[in-house]
Formats: sequence, structure tokens, C-alpha cells
Amino acid sequence: MDLLAVSGSPSSPSKTVLALDVASRRAAEHDDVHVDLLDLREQELVFSDGRDPADYTGTTRDAIDRVVAADALLVGTPMYRGGYTGRLKNLFDVLPNDALAGKPVGLVATGGTDHHYLALEHELKPLIGFFRAWAVPGAVYANNTHFSEGELVDDGVRARLRDLADAVVGFARGMPAGAGAAAPDIPRKSATEA
Ligand SMILES: Cc1cc2nc3c(=O)[nH]c(=O)nc-3n(C[C@H](O)[C@H](O)[C@H](O)COP(=O)(O)O)c2cc1C
Repeated sequence: MDLLAVSGSPSSPSKTVLALDVASRRAAEHDDVHVDLLDLREQELVFSDGRDPADYTGTTRDAIDRVVAADALLVGTPMYRGGYTGRLKNLFDVLPNDALAGKPVGLVATGGTDHHYLALEHELKPLIGFFRAWAVPGAVYANNTHFSEGELVDDGVRARLRDLADAVVGFARGMPAGAGAAAPDIPRKSATEA
């Protein structure tokens, strides 16, 4: 099973990447689970311009292909202005509509405080729903007090991240065929079309 962890943080170092790392390491302890990180602070994706996703090239093409190839995902983002980052939004804007259909997704968010905890419910879950993917119960939110000296030190958050990883792997293994029903076709411009 290929599990892709996606970080929408533009920062280095990144608390979101630290949190994803805890979940990723746990997922990798399962038999036959290969975990990879798509770190959007390193990947310079072009800005979505509404073209057909098939027409993107280079780094953007590579990012799209990695998401499409994944069996399951962990998606993490810092809270920016009460929601997910522009970088993460842009990744979702360049994906084909069926890129995530039927796949389990574990959600992780970090914020300065707990004020925007519910953005997991109101921002990220609808996004996952649009793609007809499964937002696995147990999304994890960490605030700045959970980190110290470049580490995620809160035992409760670390335990929840490991539980989330277990749940995502379990969902992916038990997912029935056709779990992501076909969506209506949304036409896109091709690169040669005005
Ligand atoms: C532009 C910007 C906007 C932010 N907006 C919020 C916010 O609305 N709510 C919040 O809790 N934290 C906010 N923060 C704090 C970050 O979400 C928080 O420090 C996060 O853990 C950073 O994650 P990172 O290190 O992975 O980038 C903001 C930070 C920046 C730079």
C-alpha cells in the first residue's frame, strides 16, 4: 500500500511536517505500507489556471501523479486565517476530480492556538468530500504549546496521530471496490482551447 503524506505548510521548519512525521512513522510500521511525503514548501507547483489537469507538466505533474498513485493519504496543514493554506488549496485545484475517489484520508492541522480546531470539520472535510474520498474519523489538531525545541512533545497528540495512522491503514485495507462512486463530469479547457 502506498500512503502519501501531504504537507501544505510553506514554512521551514514546519510543525505540520513534524506532526505528519509521527503519523507517517506509525503507518510505516504496518506490513507492506510504503510512506512518502509530498512537502509543498519544496515543490514549486504552478498556480492553477483552470486548464485540464492532464496538461500540467514538470513539478506540478509530478505532484498530481503522486496523489493519483496513492492508495491512502495523510493531509496536513497549518491554520492560515482560520483555514488551510493557499498552497494546499492550489494542489487540490490542479488535481483531476477523481484523484482521491474512494481513498481514505487522515487529516492533521496545526495552529497557533485551539481557536481554529473546527476548521478540520468546516474547511477540510468538505474539501475531502468534494473529491469523494473518506475523511477518516480521528482528525488531529495540534497547537503551538504541543511543540518544543523542534519536536512534537505532547504525548496525547502523538498518541492521536498514531491512532489516526492506524485508522487510515485499516480503512485502506478494508475499502470495498467502487467505494468512490462516479462523479458527474466537469468539463475543463484543454491547453490548446481558448
Ligand atoms: C499567515 C499566517 C496565518 C496564520 N493564521 C492562523 C490562524 O488563523 N489560526 C491559528 O491558530 N494559527 C494561525 N497561524 C499560526 C500557524 O498556523 C501555526 O504556527 C502553525 O503551527 C504553523 O505550522 P507550520 O510550522 O507547519 O507552518 C498563522 C500563521 C501564519 C504565518
